[in-house]
Amino acid sequence: MRMRSQPLYNRARIEQPVNWRKLRTFLLTLLILCLIPATRYYQIDVPLLRFLRGSHHVDPFSLHLSGEFVENNLGTEQNPDGSVTVRVIAQQYLFIPHCILVPAGAPVHLRITSADAVHSLTFGGSDYAVKVLPGTISEAQLQFPRAGDYKTVCREFCGAGHYAMRSELKVVPRDQFPALRPEERGNCAAR
Ligand code: CUA
Repeated sequence: MRMRSQPLYNRARIEQPVNWRKLRTFLLTLLILCLIPATRYYQIDVPLLRFLRGSHHVDPFSLHLSGEFVENNLGTEQNPDGSVTVRVIAQQYLFIPHCILVPAGAPVHLRITSADAVHSLTFGGSDYAVKVLPGTISEAQLQFPRAGDYKTVCREFCGAGHYAMRSELKVVPRDQFPALRPEERGNCAAR
């Protein structure tokens, strides 16, 4: 009688069964990890991220209606310690105010946000470049040692009018600055 040869191993036993629960958890985690940058890229408002970001968050759709970026609060404000705070809105395709005025040599605290796309504020002749995103307040500490005029230019492609998105920064001698009226400080086009 011919003996049937026994298989050396049981094939079914060495195959790893698919662990559906682990796979599902892995795929869900992967999906969530991909969603976070996607919400940032497409600028989707996520209340949890807004909460985590704290005071740097600002609603891009109500900038002109309430909060620190309302029209009469934009421009340059003198602080008691001699520094100035400059508040600016970047929007397609201009910076508001269109002409920023600061005293030479004084520390300048820039607070800027965007009403729409991503912009980048640069000052011609200086190394400063400030990235501006909707929903977030970008801050920068600047200082312009000498009086003079700078062209401020958007360096981030932000749409059809990007190449026309430019305005002015006037640096006036430090002793002249306190004599200016607040509306002149806020917008040098009013001088
Ligand atoms: Cu704004 Cu380019």
